[in-house]
Amino acid sequence: MSHRTTLRTLGFSAALGTLLTCAAITLAPAQDTPTAPAPAAPAAEPAAAPAADASAAPADATPPVDPVVEKGKYLALAGNCVSCHTREGGEPFAGGLGFKTPYSFLGTIYSTNITPDAETGIGSWTEDQFKRAMHEGKAADGSYLFPAFPYTSFTLVTDDDIHAIYTYLKTLAPVRTAPPSNGIAFAMRWPMAVWNAMFFKEGRYKPNAAQTDEWNRGAYLVEGLGHCSACHTPRNLLLAERNDAHLSGGIQPDLVAEGKYRMWSAVNLTSAPSGLGAWSADQIARYLKTGHSAKAGIFGPMNDVIINSLQHLSAEDTKAMAIYIKSLPPIGDSPKQTLTDAQKTAGGDLYKKYCEECHLASGKGAFLKAPPIVGSAILQTANPASLINVILYGAKVGKGSPTPGGAWEDMKSFGDKMTDEEVATLATYVRGSYDNHGGPVTTSQVGAQR
Ligand code: HEC
Ligand code: HEC
Ligand code: HEC
Repeated sequence: MSHRTTLRTLGFSAALGTLLTCAAITLAPAQDTPTAPAPAAPAAEPAAAPAADASAAPADATPPVDPVVEKGKYLALAGNCVSCHTREGGEPFAGGLGFKTPYSFLGTIYSTNITPDAETGIGSWTEDQFKRAMHEGKAADGSYLFPAFPYTSFTLVTDDDIHAIYTYLKTLAPVRTAPPSNGIAFAMRWPMAVWNAMFFKEGRYKPNAAQTDEWNRGAYLVEGLGHCSACHTPRNLLLAERNDAHLSGGIQPDLVAEGKYRMWSAVNLTSAPSGLGAWSADQIARYLKTGHSAKAGIFGPMNDVIINSLQHLSAEDTKAMAIYIKSLPPIGDSPKQTLTDAQKTAGGDLYKKYCEECHLASGKGAFLKAPPIVGSAILQTANPASLINVILYGAKVGKGSPTPGGAWEDMKSFGDKMTDEEVATLATYVRGSYDNHGGPVTTSQVGAQR
């Protein structure tokens, strides 16, 4: 069931409606998020900043690199500020990317200009004002920001790290451009006070003394700057992340053309068999750093996450994130459905005709052919949107992806070869076979993704 339906049932109750209106914050870039206008190299290794050499260098050499600026640049990459704060064809960090909620009547909310332009950017912001935005979700004038800006995660980031990000952003060339005005629903900010009181807990990351430094570093990055939960945690009716189902899979709308959304389901990242239970920590680390592992290849909304952000992190940091993710206790295992003989025959025939060539009869995939169908997290998300998208539109490796030689290439689309009913039959079959635990898929769910 989509959020859209949920809202329609509730949206007309006046009091709740107002709150919903103002709290609806699911992330959906209103245009394809631009591919990494990532800041120029050297990107990844802050430790490698040649500060000492630079001070000894003659005046005509490249200016000395401030280690705080380098650190801030690295942390800004970890937070993927650029993906959200850059509109198609616009200057990096200058904002103006539109975000939609699944409720179209709410209109659009635009990201702001975070270059140091004094009038249209954050050039006149003090460091304390910047810190308050990151930690408390408040703008320079004290008004409430909407959680399309993931301050609900950024609140965990240390003062030192925010200082570095602030220092780095101040070194960017100021760009004079203001985002378009938000729709009416997002012009009203006070209801966020109520939402924050209900759902937002301010506070820095507290290291877990029972865990290793590596685990704590991973938790800090995943839960803080990495804001994985923004997409990977299901939301309640007021679109706040559900703590009881943390990182067990969410829904993310993505606008593919003017006025047209495509929903995606973000997988269960916990160690449930329907999530990443079958992935080793090394496979998770490899996927995050290179967009490829023996379990999966990069496509869909993770293209932006990996290409603009995770690939630029050090191997130590992506490994730490993987160690933390691997330790997440299993949440949300759905019972295996039992297919009828008719479903097995019809689904099996479609699989043989369209999928077996690459994913093999065993469903195990193969080197240079395709990732496994067996135990795939994409196949087992509660909402089957991503699987349907992959069948209808294929799976495409984004431009600038760090995928190594020998990684999978694109999977072609099957939308014009199969009817909605056939796609539903096939999707039901693969979700219920090969040890997978995914519920059935209906023809109308397929229709909604067309
Ligand atoms: C998932 C998308 C997303 C990401 C990632 C993101 N932002 Fe934002 N940010 C937004 C949106 C949308 C707004 C506007 C919110 C509003 O108007 O209520 C915003 C607002 C802000 C503001 C308030 C600016 C103002 O003029 O009021 C600051 C500061 C900010 N972001 C900094 C950052 C930094 C620094 C990072 C990276 C560490 C970052 N953002 C990452 C979406 C994002
Ligand atoms: C903008 C939303 C968004 C954010 C932020 C996000 N993800 Fe995802 N993720 C998705 C979606 C949607 C999918 C399923 C489709 C795809 O792979 O793009 C997914 C899939 C995945 C997969 C499984 C890939 C596969 O093919 O089986 C892993 C692992 C993953 N994400 C890890 C992460 C981690 C770790 C973070 C935080 C650093 C993160 N994601 C942040 C949306 C997001
Ligand atoms: C020509 C080869 C080929 C065929 C045929 C094919 N696939 Fe794929 N499939 C791939 C490749 C390659 C990828 C990885 C793409 C990437 O990394 O972007 C993939 C990825 C996937 C994924 C995502 C796996 C994950 O966990 O990340 C699913 C699900 C999937 N295919 C299902 C199917 C289904 C169902 C069919 C039949 C309609 C099918 N594929 C037909 C090559 C193929």
